[in-house]
Amino acid sequence: MADRDLPAVVAVEGRIYEFPWTEGNFRDALRSGYDAVLVEFGGSLVGYRVMMYGPGEAHLLNLSIAAEWQRRGFGRQLLLACLHDARQADAQTLFLEVRPSNVAGIALYEGTGFSRIGVRRGYYPAVGGREDAWVMSRPL
Ligand SMILES: CC(C)(COP(=O)(O)OP(=O)(O)OC[C@H]1O[C@@H](n2cnc3c(N)ncnc32)[C@H](O)[C@@H]1OP(=O)(O)O)[C@@H](O)C(=O)NCCC(=O)NCCS
Repeated sequence: MADRDLPAVVAVEGRIYEFPWTEGNFRDALRSGYDAVLVEFGGSLVGYRVMMYGPGEAHLLNLSIAAEWQRRGFGRQLLLACLHDARQADAQTLFLEVRPSNVAGIALYEGTGFSRIGVRRGYYPAVGGREDAWVMSRPL
Protein backbone atom coordinates (compact mmCIF):
# COMPACT_ATOMS: atom_id res chain seq x y z
CA MET A 1 0.00 0.00 0.00
CA ALA A 2 1.31 3.43 -0.93
CA ASP A 3 -0.13 6.94 -0.75
CA ARG A 4 -1.46 6.68 -4.32
CA ASP A 5 -3.65 3.72 -3.26
CA LEU A 6 -5.37 5.57 -0.42
CA PRO A 7 -8.41 6.96 -2.31
CA ALA A 8 -9.40 3.41 -3.34
CA VAL A 9 -8.62 2.02 0.11
CA VAL A 10 -10.70 4.68 1.84
CA ALA A 11 -13.60 4.05 -0.57
CA VAL A 12 -13.61 0.35 0.40
CA GLU A 13 -13.16 1.17 4.08
CA GLY A 14 -16.13 3.57 4.05
CA ARG A 15 -18.45 0.87 2.71
CA ILE A 16 -17.59 -1.87 5.19
CA TYR A 17 -17.17 -0.11 8.54
CA GLU A 18 -19.53 2.11 10.47
CA PHE A 19 -16.46 3.89 11.90
CA PRO A 20 -13.88 3.63 9.11
CA TRP A 21 -10.23 4.60 9.24
CA THR A 22 -9.70 7.95 7.54
CA GLU A 23 -7.20 8.62 4.78
CA GLY A 24 -5.11 10.35 7.46
CA ASN A 25 -5.15 7.19 9.62
CA PHE A 26 -3.79 5.16 6.69
CA ARG A 27 -1.23 7.84 5.82
CA ASP A 28 -0.01 7.90 9.43
CA ALA A 29 0.29 4.09 9.37
CA LEU A 30 2.41 4.26 6.21
CA ARG A 31 4.56 7.07 7.67
CA SER A 32 5.07 5.00 10.83
CA GLY A 33 6.47 2.19 8.71
CA TYR A 34 3.67 -0.26 9.45
CA ASP A 35 3.49 -3.20 7.08
CA ALA A 36 0.52 -2.45 4.80
CA VAL A 37 -0.39 -4.75 1.93
CA LEU A 38 -3.10 -4.71 -0.75
CA VAL A 39 -4.80 -7.63 -2.46
CA GLU A 40 -5.81 -6.90 -6.06
CA PHE A 41 -7.52 -9.08 -8.61
CA GLY A 42 -7.99 -8.13 -12.25
CA GLY A 43 -7.34 -4.48 -11.46
CA SER A 44 -9.86 -4.36 -8.59
CA LEU A 45 -8.98 -3.73 -4.96
CA VAL A 46 -10.08 -6.90 -3.14
CA GLY A 47 -8.77 -6.03 0.33
CA TYR A 48 -5.85 -4.98 2.49
CA ARG A 49 -4.23 -5.41 5.84
CA VAL A 50 -2.06 -3.29 8.13
CA MET A 51 0.29 -4.94 10.61
CA MET A 52 2.73 -3.52 13.15
CA TYR A 53 5.74 -5.36 14.53
CA GLY A 54 7.26 -5.10 17.99
CA PRO A 55 9.89 -7.18 19.75
CA GLY A 56 8.68 -10.79 19.53
CA GLU A 57 5.12 -9.86 18.57
CA ALA A 58 2.97 -8.54 15.76
CA HIS A 59 -0.29 -6.61 15.94
CA LEU A 60 -2.90 -6.79 13.20
CA LEU A 61 -4.42 -3.30 13.04
CA ASN A 62 -6.70 -3.60 10.01
CA LEU A 63 -7.91 -6.57 7.94
CA SER A 64 -10.53 -5.77 5.34
CA ILE A 65 -12.15 -7.34 2.31
CA ALA A 66 -14.23 -5.15 -0.05
CA ALA A 67 -17.96 -5.80 0.24
CA GLU A 68 -18.29 -7.31 -3.24
CA TRP A 69 -15.39 -9.73 -2.62
CA GLN A 70 -16.46 -11.03 0.78
CA ARG A 71 -17.29 -14.69 1.52
CA ARG A 72 -15.02 -16.06 -1.21
CA GLY A 73 -12.12 -17.07 1.00
CA PHE A 74 -10.00 -13.94 0.57
CA GLY A 75 -10.24 -12.91 4.23
CA ARG A 76 -8.96 -16.27 5.42
CA GLN A 77 -6.16 -16.28 2.83
CA LEU A 78 -5.12 -12.77 3.80
CA LEU A 79 -5.12 -13.69 7.50
CA LEU A 80 -3.01 -16.80 6.80
CA ALA A 81 -0.59 -14.57 4.88
CA CYS A 82 -0.43 -12.28 7.96
CA LEU A 83 0.57 -15.27 10.10
CA HIS A 84 3.30 -16.12 7.61
CA ASP A 85 4.58 -12.54 7.38
CA ALA A 86 4.56 -12.12 11.18
CA ARG A 87 6.62 -15.32 11.56
CA GLN A 88 9.06 -14.01 8.96
CA ALA A 89 9.40 -10.87 11.10
CA ASP A 90 10.38 -13.09 14.08
CA ALA A 91 7.12 -12.55 15.96
CA GLN A 92 6.03 -15.34 18.28
CA THR A 93 2.49 -14.04 18.83
CA LEU A 94 -0.02 -12.18 16.67
CA PHE A 95 -2.46 -9.90 18.53
CA LEU A 96 -5.59 -8.13 17.30
CA GLU A 97 -8.69 -6.34 18.59
CA VAL A 98 -12.20 -7.05 17.36
CA ARG A 99 -15.65 -5.79 18.25
CA PRO A 100 -17.73 -8.42 20.10
CA SER A 101 -20.53 -7.55 17.62
CA ASN A 102 -18.35 -8.49 14.63
CA VAL A 103 -19.71 -11.99 14.05
CA ALA A 104 -17.84 -12.49 10.77
CA GLY A 105 -14.51 -11.32 12.16
CA ILE A 106 -14.77 -13.44 15.31
CA ALA A 107 -15.73 -16.54 13.30
CA LEU A 108 -12.77 -15.96 10.99
CA TYR A 109 -10.32 -15.45 13.87
CA GLU A 110 -11.56 -18.37 15.98
CA GLY A 111 -11.49 -20.59 12.91
CA THR A 112 -7.85 -19.62 12.36
CA GLY A 113 -6.65 -20.47 15.86
CA PHE A 114 -7.07 -17.16 17.69
CA SER A 115 -8.43 -17.11 21.22
CA ARG A 116 -9.75 -14.31 23.35
CA ILE A 117 -7.24 -13.21 25.96
CA GLY A 118 -8.84 -10.04 27.29
CA VAL A 119 -11.28 -7.17 26.91
CA ARG A 120 -10.56 -3.46 26.48
CA ARG A 121 -13.56 -1.65 27.93
CA GLY A 122 -15.10 1.06 25.72
CA TYR A 123 -12.29 0.80 23.17
CA TYR A 124 -14.32 1.53 20.02
CA PRO A 125 -16.72 4.33 19.13
CA ALA A 126 -20.25 3.03 18.64
CA VAL A 127 -23.65 4.48 17.83
CA GLY A 128 -24.88 6.01 21.07
CA GLY A 129 -21.75 5.26 23.09
CA ARG A 130 -18.70 3.01 23.10
CA GLU A 131 -18.14 -0.70 22.45
CA ASP A 132 -15.62 -3.00 24.10
CA ALA A 133 -12.83 -4.68 22.15
CA TRP A 134 -11.97 -8.33 22.50
CA VAL A 135 -8.23 -8.79 22.46
CA MET A 136 -7.36 -12.01 20.65
CA SER A 137 -4.03 -13.67 20.10
CA ARG A 138 -2.53 -16.63 18.34
CA PRO A 139 0.85 -18.22 18.88
CA LEU A 140 2.93 -18.35 15.71
C1 LIG B 1 -14.20 -10.26 8.36
C2 LIG B 1 -13.79 -10.32 6.88
C3 LIG B 1 -12.32 -9.86 6.75
C4 LIG B 1 -13.90 -11.76 6.37
O1 LIG B 1 -13.43 -11.81 5.03
P1 LIG B 1 -14.12 -12.77 3.93
O2 LIG B 1 -13.24 -12.79 2.74
O3 LIG B 1 -15.52 -12.36 3.72
O4 LIG B 1 -14.10 -14.18 4.70
P2 LIG B 1 -13.83 -15.63 4.08
O5 LIG B 1 -14.69 -15.83 2.86
O6 LIG B 1 -12.37 -15.86 3.94
O7 LIG B 1 -14.43 -16.53 5.26
C5 LIG B 1 -13.60 -17.04 6.27
C6 LIG B 1 -14.44 -17.34 7.50
O8 LIG B 1 -14.89 -16.12 8.09
C7 LIG B 1 -16.17 -16.32 8.68
N1 LIG B 1 -17.13 -15.43 8.02
C8 LIG B 1 -16.89 -14.62 6.97
N2 LIG B 1 -17.98 -13.88 6.70
C9 LIG B 1 -18.92 -14.25 7.60
C10 LIG B 1 -20.25 -13.81 7.86
N3 LIG B 1 -20.85 -12.88 7.11
N4 LIG B 1 -20.91 -14.36 8.90
C11 LIG B 1 -20.33 -15.31 9.68
N5 LIG B 1 -19.06 -15.77 9.48
C12 LIG B 1 -18.37 -15.22 8.46
C13 LIG B 1 -16.54 -17.77 8.47
O9 LIG B 1 -16.06 -18.48 9.60
C14 LIG B 1 -15.71 -18.10 7.24
O10 LIG B 1 -15.44 -19.48 7.16
P3 LIG B 1 -16.43 -20.43 6.30
O11 LIG B 1 -16.52 -19.81 4.95
O12 LIG B 1 -15.71 -21.73 6.33
O13 LIG B 1 -17.73 -20.40 7.02
C15 LIG B 1 -14.73 -9.45 6.00
O14 LIG B 1 -16.07 -9.82 6.26
C16 LIG B 1 -14.59 -7.96 6.22
O15 LIG B 1 -13.70 -7.32 5.66
N6 LIG B 1 -15.49 -7.39 7.04
C17 LIG B 1 -15.53 -5.97 7.31
C18 LIG B 1 -14.26 -5.52 8.00
C19 LIG B 1 -13.99 -6.28 9.26
O16 LIG B 1 -14.88 -6.51 10.07
N7 LIG B 1 -12.71 -6.65 9.44
C20 LIG B 1 -12.25 -7.30 10.66
C21 LIG B 1 -12.09 -6.27 11.69
S1 LIG B 1 -11.36 -6.92 13.17
